[in-house]
This record gives sequence, C-alpha cells and structure tokens, in this order.
Amino acid sequence: MNLFVYETPEELAEAAARDFAARAEGAIGERRRFAVALAGGSTPKVTYEVLAHYYADRIDWSRAHAFFGDERTVSPDHKDSNYRMAHETLLSRVSVGGVHRMHGELPTEGAAAAYEEELREFFGRSGVPAFDLVLLGLGEDGHTLSLFPETSALDVTNRWVVANPVPKLETTRLTLTIPVINAARAATFLVAGEGKAGALKEILEGDADPRAYPAKFIRPESGDLTWRVDRAAVGSLEKFF
Ligand code: 6PG
Repeated sequence: MNLFVYETPEELAEAAARDFAARAEGAIGERRRFAVALAGGSTPKVTYEVLAHYYADRIDWSRAHAFFGDERTVSPDHKDSNYRMAHETLLSRVSVGGVHRMHGELPTEGAAAAYEEELREFFGRSGVPAFDLVLLGLGEDGHTLSLFPETSALDVTNRWVVANPVPKLETTRLTLTIPVINAARAATFLVAGEGKAGALKEILEGDADPRAYPAKFIRPESGDLTWRVDRAAVGSLEKFF
C-alpha cells in the first residue's frame, strides 16, 4: 500500500491524473487497451477536469474504455448521475474507445445484471474482470463506491455488480462488488477535505469491523493499492502527522 499526501486538492488531482496517464500508457503498451472504472464524488471530479484539460492530447484515448464503479438510480441527465458528472468533465472532451455506463434509470436488479453481462463481454467469461485502474472516493462514513456500511453488497462474493439497498439514504445504488475491485491491477483512493479525516484514520489505523468502514475491504490481491490524500484529510493520522 502506498499513501501520498498533497498540500491541496488540486495537487492531489494533478498527481492522480499523472498516474492515470502512466497506467493508461502502460496498459495500452502491454494489452492494447486501458480499462478504467470511474468513481463519482467531488474529489474524483477534479481529477477528471485535470485529465480533460492537460491530457487530452497525451493519452491514446481511443484505446481507453471508461466503466463506472457505481451509479445512483437516476437517469443519465440527472444532476446526481455519476455518468453525467464524468461526461461533463471528461468523456465529452476526449474521444474514448468506449463508454460503458451503468443504467441507473432502469429497474435496479436488471441494470446490475446487464452491467455484469457487459463486463463479461468485455473482459471474457472466465475469472473476475481485471480493471487496469479502479478510482475510488471515500465517504465520511467510510463508504467507497456504493459499498455503504452494513449493507448487503458487502457480503457478495459471487456477483460482479449488484443493486445495493442503502436504507440510510432511502435509495438503492448500483455498485461493483468487493471481489471485482480486489481483482484490479490498481485501485486508487482520492480523498480530500477534513470531513474525511475521521474515516481515514479508522480505515488506515483503527481496528473497527470493516463492515462499519467498507473501504477497509479494498485490498487488491495482486494489484497496487494507493491512497492519495490531501493535508486536510490526513488529520491525526499518526504516521503522517
Ligand atoms: C458516489 C461515489 C462515492 C464517492 C464518495 C466521496 O457515487 O457518490 O462513487 O463513493 O466517491 O461518496 O464523495 P466526495 O468526494 O464527493 O466526498
């Protein structure tokens, strides 16, 4: 596990974009394509803006496939849609080889099954999909993607995508499952703001049950795990105070 600390959210986003570009180049060089799962949330958003602004001509976007790690159950033009955010900030500004969105506007079980089938078609039917990069945000309650504390998706081992009821938000979200994230070649958390400090400390240094802080479940089996954190989110982490 690597943890990098940045003075500002902008510096964090610049580093995340640099790493995104390097991983894209590596994956395209080795496998002729780059498969990335995008996250929602405000911190990933800044990274997408940096990518659109500074990397439009520096990545072979035609070989990049943009998937989504999670989605809200809304239509793609809704203000809460992760697809809409990624489209507005990045995907409308570069010509990617493929955009694979979760259909949050459809009945949730069917939408999850359809996305799992889309992953099978892309990655093949044997074994768990291996994304080149999964981007992850962190919620103040310790959730990542739409893996919220104490929700049923945390127990799922035999599905790649599920509809996850989130009682405290009175909604259901579509999300990749833990086994898919842990099969990635790289998983990177992007975490900014003092509101995240408590959760971050519990995840990296605390002994709480991972079901209470689901980001603790993220440990790629053979891929890289990276935390990119701004100074405000570092808070009282002992090793980085
Ligand atoms: C979502 C995300 C989610 C998000 C975190 C952090 O759809 O909401 O995928 O996991 O990344 O909630 O969001 P912020 O960066 O906005 O705090």
